[in-house]
Amino acid sequence: MDSLNGKKIVLGVTGGIAAYKAVEIASRLRKAGAEVHVVMTREATEFVTELTFREITGQPVTVDMWAKVTNFNVEHIALANLADIMLIAPATANIIAKTAAGIADDMLTTTVLATKAPLILAPAMNTNMYENPVTQKNIAELKSRGVQIIEPASGHLACGVEGKGRLPDPAEIVRFVMDFAAGEQRLTGKKIIVTAAGTIEPLDPVRFLGNRSTGKMGYAIAAEAAKQGAEVLLVSGPSSLPDPAGVRTIRIQTALEMQAAVQEAYAAADAVIMSAAVADYRPKTVAKEKIKKSDDELVLHLERNPDILYGLGQHKNRQILVGFAAETCNVEEYAKKKLVKKNLDFIVANDVSASDAGFAVDNNRVQIYTRDGGCEKYPLMSKQELAGIILNKIAELMS
Ligand code: PMT
Repeated sequence: MDSLNGKKIVLGVTGGIAAYKAVEIASRLRKAGAEVHVVMTREATEFVTELTFREITGQPVTVDMWAKVTNFNVEHIALANLADIMLIAPATANIIAKTAAGIADDMLTTTVLATKAPLILAPAMNTNMYENPVTQKNIAELKSRGVQIIEPASGHLACGVEGKGRLPDPAEIVRFVMDFAAGEQRLTGKKIIVTAAGTIEPLDPVRFLGNRSTGKMGYAIAAEAAKQGAEVLLVSGPSSLPDPAGVRTIRIQTALEMQAAVQEAYAAADAVIMSAAVADYRPKTVAKEKIKKSDDELVLHLERNPDILYGLGQHKNRQILVGFAAETCNVEEYAKKKLVKKNLDFIVANDVSASDAGFAVDNNRVQIYTRDGGCEKYPLMSKQELAGIILNKIAELMS
């Protein structure tokens, strides 16, 4: 195996009993061709020595923020900049919490905060700590920012209990890193526009017409595309989600603003993925002052918004165009019509009447219809996983 050739991997080792397995991880990464730089927390040095990692990697090992200066680079910044991938294995509940909160109080956490490299965490801890809602919330937060989490294995833990929380075998962790690195390169140099969340159309200074889209689907796609090396522009309607790492994010409110932002970047784009729920109509007039209630019924006059995706389809040259279809009935029929009418390469149809998929939840269940008449039905899966499938299809079309 030599598929990490030349990759610079910063391996963070934290203080858990599984720290000894990090020695084999470092060794396997190096055998796979990577240049491995180890950063240990002070606690990790209680389990394994710096010397072991230095001998295994052939590189200096960093622990102390305040060690003697050996060069003029600020060390954590230098490590953060050189990393192609940052892997933390084992990742304790403590490092997970600090990373989620943006705390930087030692060499490892400062490096994590300063790096723009993709981050992979392999949690390992006692089952109760892993299942604690706080840890799960921190993991969900990190996933939403595009951090890769290697699921811990189940089995007998050092603390004497049986359950989830064991660090997977070093071979599996290194395989994950290699797969990630392979996937990462696939979209390098490609420019991808992703739209997300719903547009909101103002009625007066305090009210608007909107929909239930949260941006979860589009943000997952943007994060995954960035992870695979693409240069990503995310054009997002209002969303409480943070900007995904490594993605240029433009926040807009209305369909017209979304159209302007997408059109500006369209000529240079290789692909556009429209997962946004764009309002088809907007109020014809926006009241300058708050509309007062009266005893009469209120009639709103709406006018059509442009169909952004249709417009892109009309001016398509080399771009790959992907639409979503949010349907509550006749999913197949409506999705296929949109595929043709909007001149798309494929369309991802979701039944948004389901309560466990579609709007505002972490999972989705879709059918993908392609230009050649193909249809693939997928079971319920996380939006991250679906993002990977969509980007795989795009990468295949590009090649
Ligand atoms: O954000 P989440 O909470 O995660 O929810 C995700 C989602 C349910 C919003 C998403 O999976 C989804 O289905 N997005 C598409 C919503 C939609 O507007 O579907 P549509 O069938 O009305 O539109 C078809 C396609 O045309 C879409 O790609 C849409 O972005 C685009 N469109 C629609 C109207 C318009 N005026 N301009 C457009 O470009």
